[in-house]
Amino acid sequence: MTRKGILLAGGSGTRLYPATLSVSKQLLPLYDKPMIYYPLSVLMLAGIREIAVITTPNDAEQFRHLLGDGSQWGLQLDYIPQPSPDGLAQAYLLAEGWLGGAASAMILGDNIFFGQGLSQILGRASSSESGTVFGYQVREPKQYGVLGFDADGKVTSIVEKPANPASRFAVTGLYFLDGTAPERAHHVEPSERGELEITSLLESYLSDGQLSVERLGRGFAWLDTGTHDDLLDAANFVRALQARQGLQVGCPEEIAFQLGWIDSADLAMAAQRFDKNAYGRYLMTLLSGDNQMKYH
Ligand code: G1P
Repeated sequence: MTRKGILLAGGSGTRLYPATLSVSKQLLPLYDKPMIYYPLSVLMLAGIREIAVITTPNDAEQFRHLLGDGSQWGLQLDYIPQPSPDGLAQAYLLAEGWLGGAASAMILGDNIFFGQGLSQILGRASSSESGTVFGYQVREPKQYGVLGFDADGKVTSIVEKPANPASRFAVTGLYFLDGTAPERAHHVEPSERGELEITSLLESYLSDGQLSVERLGRGFAWLDTGTHDDLLDAANFVRALQARQGLQVGCPEEIAFQLGWIDSADLAMAAQRFDKNAYGRYLMTLLSGDNQMKYH
């Protein structure tokens, strides 16, 4: 069975009020495109074409309006409502029927990943039988799930928002898990803050010796979009890279084209749709072949 994707874009975005009072956080622009394009691109780079988008019932219509059925990018998108935000592990319960026993890659709709060799790293995780999560060093680990390691660098613990972090390695919001994830999620008990924590689900894998941790090195960017300042910093990061290289970060049309999921005619149609701006002109340069930097 091929691995399926879950794009988790629920939540009320309270930390970004009033910016998110009437629009989902993951639909806000991150510089020149909606935030959700970036994590969607990561799933695409992992070679995943069947993706469930989990949103609040209220926001579902707007996500559908933006992403449609995914066919414009050679994808198959389905939508699953999350009636109440009860924790990340809940996504596996909501998606259980849709997954139908398949392995999955879940990414949080507000997580931005950028770095050399990302496709290869994703490819490794995707072809691994066991679960894979990604560790990233942050200055303030307390606000994340935090990894603990033994002297040989082997992961020994994962703790959600610890008062005394065992390391500075946070678990990022990208999880490659096997087909047993929903079944394991049924056994997760709500935490003190009343959520089905993803870290509890990961602990189940860890105690079975079924979890690998891939550390993302210092050349990687895993950016936060939790506060207004984080959001602006992330946008400036994308802007600086794109302006310097003339390459887009998180462009689904480009990835779909490179992977052969859409053809030149499809790309031309997308380019025409956006022909009034730099995004559309960028797609044109891909068509003319004078802007080819492969992901693989
Ligand atoms: C969630 C997870 C946490 C993880 C983080 C990554 O935290 O619970 O383990 O490190 O996402 O973004 P939350 O965003 O719910 O605070």
